[in-house]
Amino acid sequence: MYGNDFSAPGEAPGEAPRPRPATADEPVSFAAVIADDGRVEPRDEMPEGYRRTLVRQIAQHAHSEIIGMQPEGNWISRAPSLRRKAILMAKVQDEAGHGLYLYAAAETLGADRADLLDQLHSGRQKYSSIFNYPTLTWADVGAIGWLVDGAAIVNQVPLCRCSYGPYARAMVRVCKEESFHQRQGFEILHTLSHGTAEQKAMAQDAVDRYWWPSLMMFGPPDDDSPNSAQSMAWGIKRFSNDDLRQRFVDMTVPQAEALGLTLPDPEIRWNEERGHYDFGDIDFTELFEVIKGNGPCNAQRLAHRVKAHDDGAWVREAASAYAAKQSARSEGAA
Ligand SMILES: [Fe+2]
Ligand SMILES: [Fe+2]
Repeated sequence: MYGNDFSAPGEAPGEAPRPRPATADEPVSFAAVIADDGRVEPRDEMPEGYRRTLVRQIAQHAHSEIIGMQPEGNWISRAPSLRRKAILMAKVQDEAGHGLYLYAAAETLGADRADLLDQLHSGRQKYSSIFNYPTLTWADVGAIGWLVDGAAIVNQVPLCRCSYGPYARAMVRVCKEESFHQRQGFEILHTLSHGTAEQKAMAQDAVDRYWWPSLMMFGPPDDDSPNSAQSMAWGIKRFSNDDLRQRFVDMTVPQAEALGLTLPDPEIRWNEERGHYDFGDIDFTELFEVIKGNGPCNAQRLAHRVKAHDDGAWVREAASAYAAKQSARSEGAA
């Protein structure tokens, strides 16, 4: 009914070929791989701009995965049943795993993980603004799974075909797990919206608060997204922000109907001519405020992350001591 299969984005027949403006600093082999829709691998020659763009994007993505553990982690101790708690723990753990795949992918580009974390902790690198909103009720866990993981899937499925091999391959597994996350969120909301009047109101309130921030997850409108064209030419990005946002709305409106919940936008209606749902204007001033650090939970999320990192110092020390001991041992044996 609301399946996010992996065939839709990017696989559509008749997709327009990407524009390929030739640039002077591109190694010939790189240009050929991109023109051929092939994969660039870590040891391949690549333009410095391509490498830098990928490091920035992958790091930002990795940071979002691990910061994203916090709003839901907030509810692990208060999940309404043991079953719900087990599912939520597994979900939050998946997000940690996504962060790890992605930091590893950034390392294949020569980035240093400790340095990336340092940039996150000092505010020099960003993470998705959606995680700066609070989780006020249990229904928020449902809304995050349904809408936030749902938007993540729409954003990330095309990345399975990203021109950089390690990033593309990491996304295949991440998307499968995100699909599970989206379904568990839907199921939480479905249960609430078919429960007592109070539970249904709680589900509706969560959807009311998370709907617009979810739409903002796709980034600024195309006219206002200066780096998109270059990313598309390099095969990093496959669809524009507005195209992905429209795809998400089209996927989500029928799901809201199935849930018996209303999306907080009176302008949503099917447009026969376009073959898409129309929707209202997004107030991007709010997004830019949250990006600037003025969201409801920015300071709290970052402080929590830094503390977790500091508290984990002994684990990192123990792990490197163990690794050093192991390699000394195997050298001794040799
Ligand atoms: Fe994730
Ligand atoms: Fe997820």
